[in-house]
Amino acid sequence: MKIGILTSGGDCPGLNAVIRGIVLKGDKVYEHSFVGIRDGYRGLVEDDIFTLPRKQVRGLSKQGGTILGTSRMGPFEHGGADRVKEVMEAHEMDAFVAIGGEGTLTVARMLHEEGVPVVGVPKTIDNDLSATDVTFGFETAVAIATESIDRLRTTAESHHRCMVVEVMGRHAGWIALNAGIASGAHAILIPEVPVTLEQVTGWVQATVNRGRAPVVVVAEGFRLAGEDVSAKHGVDHMGRPRFGGIADQLSPLIEELTGIETRSMTLGHLQRGGVPTSYDRVLATRFGTHAIDAVHRKEWGTMVALKGTDIVSVALAQATSELKSVPKHRWDEAAILFG
Ligand code: F6P
Repeated sequence: MKIGILTSGGDCPGLNAVIRGIVLKGDKVYEHSFVGIRDGYRGLVEDDIFTLPRKQVRGLSKQGGTILGTSRMGPFEHGGADRVKEVMEAHEMDAFVAIGGEGTLTVARMLHEEGVPVVGVPKTIDNDLSATDVTFGFETAVAIATESIDRLRTTAESHHRCMVVEVMGRHAGWIALNAGIASGAHAILIPEVPVTLEQVTGWVQATVNRGRAPVVVVAEGFRLAGEDVSAKHGVDHMGRPRFGGIADQLSPLIEELTGIETRSMTLGHLQRGGVPTSYDRVLATRFGTHAIDAVHRKEWGTMVALKGTDIVSVALAQATSELKSVPKHRWDEAAILFG
């Protein structure tokens, strides 16, 4: 078989390890051949495709980003399933593997419903896909955020300042929750749990009263309860609002209400860059080798997923039906330690 591989949506540490896993096992065990599709679905509708031999994926598992490039462009505004089938036929491509988050996998499901042979691999640093216990890239993002918060804390302590640190997490606060707990944050603000400005300043003041410099960790998707404090950076190619900026908006409010000097820091894309952790390399490699098994078995319309310690196959329809939010009880566990 000849199989295409694409990465689509935001990049994520571990994408290259997936690509390597697919190609190595596909070549060695099944003698399949591979083509790379540039910049996600853009390459599939614009016919931007190149041969991907085994030697091109050597040593890739520790490399951040994606050698295939990525974009947030969808195929349905550019000829849809018919155009995809036409390009696949022109390259004698039997199937393709779509590596991406909720948007990418939803598109893969829709293409599958129109008869395109596709298998999915879930990725997102946000860890918000319900069909898999964990997505690769998440652990790396949490590690980068934790180290950054540790560093910000030493300067905050020296200057007796409050520091508001913004991490990624569009709909789910998993990065904020884990990095916040790991770094001993005095408040963790996530999209799933409404919190008032008075609660935030209460935690900040209590921390100062104990002689500490407060650290507030906020997910980019958090909004104050009942207040219109939103980031305004326009929209991306898929029409989704670009997030980023909630820390900048919160910090003057905290300073005004408490009189404590407050600075903000948005970690942004730092969390998606650089080398994946060993955990993410292992998970991504396993996803890759299991995805090529699913392709070989012609399990079209499925996606690989982690359940406990096993990699399983689930229907793409199931995989894209529900986001995995932080349950309130998980935030409550952390909130005991706030202030
Ligand atoms: O979905 C992963 C993610 O990192 C979100 O947390 C964030 O809102 C988004 O991607 C940012 O995407 P982009 O780099 O396209 O602005």
